Amino acid sequence: MKLTMRLGERSYDIILKRGALHNLGLLANLNRRVLIVTDSGVPAEYAEIVRAQCREGHIETVPQGEGSKCLKVYEKLLCRMLELGFDRGDLVVAVGGGVVGDLAGFVAATYMRGVDFINCPTTTLSQIDSSIGGKVAVDLGAAKNIVGAFWQPRLVVVDPDTLSTLPRRHFINGLAEAVKMSLTSDAELFEMFEKLDVDAEIETIIYRSLLIKKQVVEKDETEKGMRAILNLGHTLGHGIEAVKGITGRRTNGLYHGECVALGLLPMIEDRQLAKRVRAVYRKLGLPARVAYNKEKVWAYMLHDKKFRDGRITVVKVPGLGCWRLDKLDADGLNAILMGK
Ligand SMILES: NC(=O)c1ccc[n+]([C@@H]2O[C@H](COP(=O)([O-])OP(=O)(O)OC[C@H]3O[C@@H](n4cnc5c(N)ncnc54)[C@H](O)[C@@H]3O)[C@@H](O)[C@H]2O)c1
Ligand SMILES: [Zn+2]
Repeated sequence: MKLTMRLGERSYDIILKRGALHNLGLLANLNRRVLIVTDSGVPAEYAEIVRAQCREGHIETVPQGEGSKCLKVYEKLLCRMLELGFDRGDLVVAVGGGVVGDLAGFVAATYMRGVDFINCPTTTLSQIDSSIGGKVAVDLGAAKNIVGAFWQPRLVVVDPDTLSTLPRRHFINGLAEAVKMSLTSDAELFEMFEKLDVDAEIETIIYRSLLIKKQVVEKDETEKGMRAILNLGHTLGHGIEAVKGITGRRTNGLYHGECVALGLLPMIEDRQLAKRVRAVYRKLGLPARVAYNKEKVWAYMLHDKKFRDGRITVVKVPGLGCWRLDKLDADGLNAILMGK
C-alpha cells in the first residue's frame, strides 16, 4: 500500500508493506553517504538490512530510551557526519521508534541547514503516528520536544514485519495513538478496536491511522489550526507522563501512549462513549484508571508550551467521530482534572 503526503515540493510517499525494508534501495537513492541511526533496543539486523543496500552506509547506535533525545547525542551524531565528510547531498535514515525518528530527523533538519531524511519506523507508535508529519525534536531535560523543527522526510517505509520483535507492552502502547485518532476522525476504526483482533488487523489499523494523520497534516502542516486534533489527550497526557512516566530514574513508569490513553478520557463528553473507550482499553491492555497526584500534574500542565495569554486549547470529543476545540484557563483545566 502506498500513500502520498501532498505538501507541494515537500511531498513524499509512505510505503506500507511487509518486507519493505529489504526494498529500500529500490525506493530511494542510497548511492551516497548514508548515516543510519538506530538504538540499542532495536534488533541490529534492521539497520544492517539498510546498510547492505547502501554504497556507503554508516550505522550509529544510540542508547535506547527517551534519554537519547538530547543535545549531547544530537551533537555526537552531527560530529560523526562531519568527520565522515557528509555534505548536503547525503542522507540520514532512521531505523527505530519515535525516539530515533525524532532525533535523526532533527539531525537531518539541521546538518548543513538540512539534508535528506528517510524514516523507517519499527514501533507501532512510530508506524501509526510519529514517522509522518515532519515534527522532529530533542528534549531539554524534562521539557519534551522543546528544541526542534518541521522537517519532512523524503520517504517513509513502514515494514510491519519489524513489529514481530517489539515487546507486547510497546506494541499496545502505540495503539493508543490510533484509538485517539479514531475517536475524532474514524468511527469505523474505533469499532474495529471494539470488535476485532488487533494483531490480525494491524496493517489496516496502521493504514487507517496514517491516512487520518496524512489528511490532517496536509491541511495544516505547521499546526496553526486543525492539526491540534492530533493533540487529543496530550495536554493532560504530558502532565501524567511528567509525574508517572518512564524516565532514567523512574523505570517502572508509564509509556507515552499509556499516558495519552489516560489523558484523553476526561476529554470525552459523552458518558456512554467514555465507557466504550474504557472497555477498549481493558480489551487491549491499556490502563483505564491510574491514581496520580493531581496537584503535581496540574502544576506541570500550567507550564505547557501551548499556553497563550493564560489559556490553552484542548480537544474535546462530544461524540464518536466528532471533535471541538475548547480554550481553558488554569481553573478550567483544574476542573477537568478533578472530574468536575
Ligand atoms: N514526531 C512526532 O510527531 C511524534 C509523535 C508521537 C510521539 N513522538 C515521540 O516518539 C517517542 C516515543 O516513540 P516510541 O514509542 O516508538 O518509543 P521508542 O522509540 O523509545 O521505542 C520503544 C522501545 O522499543 C525498542 N524497539 C524499537 N523498535 C523495536 C523492534 N522492532 N523490536 C524490538 N524493540 C524495538 C526501542 O529500542 C525502545 O526501547 C517519544 O519521544 C515521543 O515524543 C513523536
Ligand atoms: Zn503522542
